[in-house]
Amino acid sequence: MPEKVLVTREIPPAGLHVLEPFDVTVLHERPPEREELLDAVRSVSGVLSTATETVDGEVMDAAGEDLKVIANMAVGYDNVDMESATQRGVVVTNTPGVLDETTADVAFMLLLAAARRLGEGERLLRAGRWEWWGPKQLMGRDVWGKRLGVVGFGRIGQAVARRAKGFGMDVLYYNRSRKQEAEQEFGARYLDLDELLETADFVSVHTPLTDETHRLIGETELGRMKPEAVLVNTSRGPVVDEAALADALAEDRIFAAGLDVYEEEPEVHPELLELENVVLAPHIGSASVDTRDRMAVLAAENLVAVLRGEEPKTPVNG
Ligand code: NAP
Ligand code: GLV
Repeated sequence: MPEKVLVTREIPPAGLHVLEPFDVTVLHERPPEREELLDAVRSVSGVLSTATETVDGEVMDAAGEDLKVIANMAVGYDNVDMESATQRGVVVTNTPGVLDETTADVAFMLLLAAARRLGEGERLLRAGRWEWWGPKQLMGRDVWGKRLGVVGFGRIGQAVARRAKGFGMDVLYYNRSRKQEAEQEFGARYLDLDELLETADFVSVHTPLTDETHRLIGETELGRMKPEAVLVNTSRGPVVDEAALADALAEDRIFAAGLDVYEEEPEVHPELLELENVVLAPHIGSASVDTRDRMAVLAAENLVAVLRGEEPKTPVNG
């Protein structure tokens, strides 16, 4: 009898193809309800999850003793309770490296759109309110030649820095460890977080969500940014205090923001929805056809490797 595998969402067929040797159940396009997940996970050996499912000890216990692997189709794995998995001997894997450039494109897209007021301009035009070209109309902030501050200088943070160099920007970074090689490659300057926030014209956040990074950017940190600065967040919503950000934007304490992620997805802080100076994307960082194929295949290959007793390509524990 082939082992049972649960795929919690509809994923690209390239990933399902890899799972063909197993008895696979695929749930829906939408995220499963909690009860539905607890029911569907019974007696499976592997779960291919996405960032929208909370995979905690209760889910692992519902799966039972056969559970060997949780293959998250995301690089971030804050949705998986790592301690519970490790205690139960369950291998957790993620999908690093295959989505860096695609996610960096979205971060830079948000940076440009927020700086040059694209959302505001498009809303004006579509509402039929664009009456003339104006010498003072929709004046934004230049991106080229300015200072980019990257918070979390890992794979995606560095891919954003690469784009910034193409725009003639100076790169500053804050990270928990120094990145000497990247400093050389991008001519990047290490600053502590406060200095970076005070100096940068653009701040782009790329840390994982952990206990240490929860609300890393809050009211105090926003208060350190320049009034003409732009904040971009494509990491995880709770890394930025959304209410504090909404207040800072409403009071023009910073110029603009570009967000792909939110504290309570798919909810967005109501104040943000009313503001003109924030560009809001619905968590589409890795959403290109090629990258979602790569993520699905890597997640599935990791799952298969563990069930075959082999080393997965990108384990998080073990
Ligand atoms: P990564 O390569 O691991 O980079 C993360 C960086 O953050 C590392 O350099 C790490 O430092 C640093 N860091 C961790 N904790 C820190 C702290 N407390 N203070 C300062 N720096 C800290 O990860 P990645 O592949 O670039 O992905 C980053 C995150 O982006 C993911 O975890 C995920 O949440 C998010 N993401 C979002 C989307 C989207 O669709 N919007 C897509 C992909 C990823 P060390 O090198 O010292 O560990
Ligand atoms: C997406 O948000 C990811 O972490 O891959």
